[in-house]
Amino acid sequence: MMHADVVIVGTGHGGAQAAISLRQLGFEGSILMIGRDSSPPYERPPLSKEYLSGEKAFERILIRPEKFWQDKQVDLMLGVNVSRLDPAAHELSISGGEPVTYGSLIWAGGGDARRLDCPGGYLDGVHAVRDKPDADRLMAELAGGAKRVVVIGGGYIGLEAAAVLAKRGCSVTLVEMQDRLLSRVAGEDLSRFYEAEHRAHGVDVRLGTGVECLVADGDRVAGVTLTSGETIPCEMVVVGIGIVPSIGPLIGAGAAGANGVDVDEYCRTSLSDVYAIGDCAAHANPYADGAVIRLESVQNAHDMATTAARAICGDPQPYDALPWFWSNQYDLKLQTVGLSMGHDTTVLRGDPASRSFSVIYLKEGRVIALDCVNAVKDYVQGRKLVEARASIAPELLLDTETPLKAML
Ligand code: APR
Repeated sequence: MMHADVVIVGTGHGGAQAAISLRQLGFEGSILMIGRDSSPPYERPPLSKEYLSGEKAFERILIRPEKFWQDKQVDLMLGVNVSRLDPAAHELSISGGEPVTYGSLIWAGGGDARRLDCPGGYLDGVHAVRDKPDADRLMAELAGGAKRVVVIGGGYIGLEAAAVLAKRGCSVTLVEMQDRLLSRVAGEDLSRFYEAEHRAHGVDVRLGTGVECLVADGDRVAGVTLTSGETIPCEMVVVGIGIVPSIGPLIGAGAAGANGVDVDEYCRTSLSDVYAIGDCAAHANPYADGAVIRLESVQNAHDMATTAARAICGDPQPYDALPWFWSNQYDLKLQTVGLSMGHDTTVLRGDPASRSFSVIYLKEGRVIALDCVNAVKDYVQGRKLVEARASIAPELLLDTETPLKAML
C-alpha cells in the first residue's frame, strides 16, 4: 500500500498550486498528486483560446516544466481515477492499483463538462472543451476539414471556442437557451456587446432556443435540431454548457455538500484531514456578502490551494481573496474583478463602440465588481474600489476623464 503525508487529487490549477504552495511554505513531508488526466499539470484557459487556435504548443501551457515536480519531490500518479474514499482509514481506492493512504487529503477534483442530455449527445463529432484530449480531438477534426460547427452554450467556453473557430474560417452557429449571452456571469451591457461582436465576425447567434436532439449520420453528428424545430446541418458540435463538480467519492464518504463539497474558511470539508479547493468547493465568499457559492476560476483554485496548504502547515489564514477572471475573444481582452451577483445598479463607463469600456456594478451604492473590455487601467484601478467596497456616485464613475483611482 502506498502512503503520502499529503495526497492531492486533481492535477489542474488547484492541485498543482497546492503542491507548489506546500513546498514554498517549507513543507518537507511526502506529496503525491493523483490525476485522471494523463498529462502533467497544464493550464486550462488556453484550451479554448491559444491552444485551440494553434498559437501555443502544449509545452507552453504546462504549469511547470516536468522536471520541476521531480526537483520538488512531488510524485505524480497520472491517468489514474480515484473511485472511493474511506475517511476513517484515510484511504483512497484508485483505478488499477493498490489503495493509497494519506495524512491530509486535498481534493482538487474540479468538474466534468456537462454533457448534452438529449438524443445524439454522445455521437462522434460532439466535443467538450475541458481537458487536453477534448481540445486535441477537436483540432484533429478541424484539420480533417470540418467546416460547419454548431456551438452549444453562450458562456465563456462557448464564446471563446466560437471566436477561434470563426477566425479559422469555420461557419459557426451559436445556440444559447437564455435570451442573452453570459447570463450566468455578466450583466446585460456586456452580453449585448459580445453578441454584436460575434455577429460582426460572422457567428450566427441564436438566443432563447435550446437543443431538441442531434441528428446522426451513422455514428457521426450531422446536424442540430433546435427546440424551435429548425435543423442546422454541421460536421461538428462544441458543447460548453457548464460543469458538474467532480466530488463523487467525497459525498459517497459522507462529506457535507450538494452543488460542490462544503468547505469552511480554511478549505476544510466536514471530513477530518480532508480539504477541498477550486471549482468543486462550495464556500462562503466575502465578496458575495458571505453567500455560499462555487467559483470556477484560476484565481479561486490558486488562492484556495494556498489557503489549504497554510492550514496543513500549521499557519491557517482564512480565505478572503478578491475574485478575478479573464476572457480573450478576437482582439477583446476582458478582465473582471469582484462578483456582480446581486448588483442593483450598473454604470457603463466609456463607449462600447470604441471597443474599450467598463461595466461597473454597484450594490447599495458600493462598487462590487467591474467587467473591463480592453480597459486595463480601469481593471487595475477598479480592483482597489472593489477591495474598499467604495461608495461612489454613479455620475462620477461615468466620467472617463477622471481615473478610477482618483475616486477613492
Ligand atoms: N442549450 C443551449 N444553451 C445551454 C444549454 C442547452 N442545452 N444548457 C446550458 N446552456 C447555456 C447556459 O444558459 C449558459 O449560458 O450554456 C451556458 C454555459 O455557461 P457556463 O455555465 O458559464 O459554462 P461554460 O461556458 O461551459 O464554462 C464552464 O469553464 O472556463 C470555465 O469560466 C468557465 O467556469 C466556467 C467553466
